[in-house]
Amino acid sequence: MAKVDGFVVELVRDMHRLAKEYDGIGLAAPQVGESLRVFVTCALYGEPERAFINPRIELSGAIVGDDEGCLSLPEIRAEIMRPPVARITALDIEGNEFTLEREGIWARVWQHEYDHLEGVLLVDRMSPADKARNKAALAELVDTYRRSQSAGAR
Ligand code: CO
Repeated sequence: MAKVDGFVVELVRDMHRLAKEYDGIGLAAPQVGESLRVFVTCALYGEPERAFINPRIELSGAIVGDDEGCLSLPEIRAEIMRPPVARITALDIEGNEFTLEREGIWARVWQHEYDHLEGVLLVDRMSPADKARNKAALAELVDTYRRSQSAGAR
């Protein structure tokens, strides 16, 4: 569990800045190398900028597919199946608990960011057809990852 302290406040501020800079909708702490249960969303589609610390999520409705991308996988877009309604409870940046329920885009964004906290990426949720379609981009990612690993080993 993440503690709402000075480090997390600063992390959230940095993550909001990065998400905006890269035209994202949201960003999760593991994407910036922090294994904390924290994600942020940007001020878009009628919602203010938000931080979700130690979120718990409940999903409902019959699953629907929609197009998703990810700042960690810039070359890849795929149709991902998810329940359409999410109810989320988390701490805000002041340490106060709040609960929100949304249907549609925000329910999808919250699930996507929550997946990052669980180590689940788009590629883990892609259909075999989408994996085949994104094969070149995925191969490039694996290659970049291997090169970064061997550079780190030196
Ligand atoms: Co992502």
